[in-house]
Amino acid sequence: MTYLSGPVLGIETSCDETSAAVVTGRTIHSNVVTSQADLHLRWGGIVPEAAARKHAEALIPTIRESLTIADCDIREIAGIAVTNRPGLVGALSVGVTGAKALSWALELPLIAVNHLEGHVLSSAIADEVPTPHICLLVSGGHTELIEVVQPGEYNQIGRTIDDAAGEAFDKAARVLGLGYPGGPAIERAARQGDPSRYSLPRGLQDPTSDFSFAGLKTAVRRLVESEGESLDVPSAAASFQETIAAVLTDRTIYACRERGSMAVTLVGGVAANSRLRECLAAKCLAHGLALYVPAIDLCTDNAAMIAHVGSWRLALGERSGADSDVEAVSLL
Ligand code: KG4
Ligand code: ZN
Repeated sequence: MTYLSGPVLGIETSCDETSAAVVTGRTIHSNVVTSQADLHLRWGGIVPEAAARKHAEALIPTIRESLTIADCDIREIAGIAVTNRPGLVGALSVGVTGAKALSWALELPLIAVNHLEGHVLSSAIADEVPTPHICLLVSGGHTELIEVVQPGEYNQIGRTIDDAAGEAFDKAARVLGLGYPGGPAIERAARQGDPSRYSLPRGLQDPTSDFSFAGLKTAVRRLVESEGESLDVPSAAASFQETIAAVLTDRTIYACRERGSMAVTLVGGVAANSRLRECLAAKCLAHGLALYVPAIDLCTDNAAMIAHVGSWRLALGERSGADSDVEAVSLL
């Protein structure tokens, strides 16, 4: 990948994190994330209208902070990259409108970035990842197995037919009374639990490259109802986490063998899960596959991954106009 030689300001507001970053190619000068988790905690999930308002409040202070940390004057910025798809329309609009205003006022090139491509190529920030490779993208809204032929050329080879893995973590955490966001809450609770205590369904029958987590979510709810007060919550969390980690790992290894791929990347918010990282690392080692996993702050939503893609696409000569729109649903 070749990149713009100057620093790119990245802006990300697709969901519940307001993020701004200053990045030159693969070098991250700053990556500031202002989380709204505390706001949504009281409702146990994201309220789109509240998310958009919070982004409007946090956007300029977050951009300012990213420039200060990077020790960069706004006039030194060479281009602006902003997430415009997929995500919550109101939330995306705040970032896109802010990016357009800056691009117009400072006469800077603007590039609209697909959030999923931001995640998929986040593995290339720290490592030289060979292509083609298999990417397991696991986030709050997506669970996909993707063959990355080269940056910009993607084949979807598997996907969830119902809930995304992150969504399953969030819903299971809610029924277990562990709070929001569910992923980190389940991971914390699971440390004190026994992962073999409860047997939970794995969804679709092997072999397949698709996923289904709706049955697992329902099984956790039934467990809570049937066990009542005697439920061992840490063990339920550990059993749930173990099941998801095993399914994701097995499907990824299967996809690699099907495609004859020798390299794997693990990206997206759920890639922050240490048990999943451990399981996939062990299986990749056993099968002679090279595994690339970004640092945790590059797995969960962040603007550095958006600026990284923007720097590359701007160097290719791509530009987005002042009339560019946002999209709630979008493929790679
Ligand atoms: O990529 P991301 O930050 O946002 C989306 O693009 O959706 O992913 C958010 C998801 C949430 O569902 C959250 O519960 C999950 O990632 N997550 C985790 C962990 N940290 C975040 N899931 C499991 N274990 C974690 N440590
Ligand atoms: Zn994401």
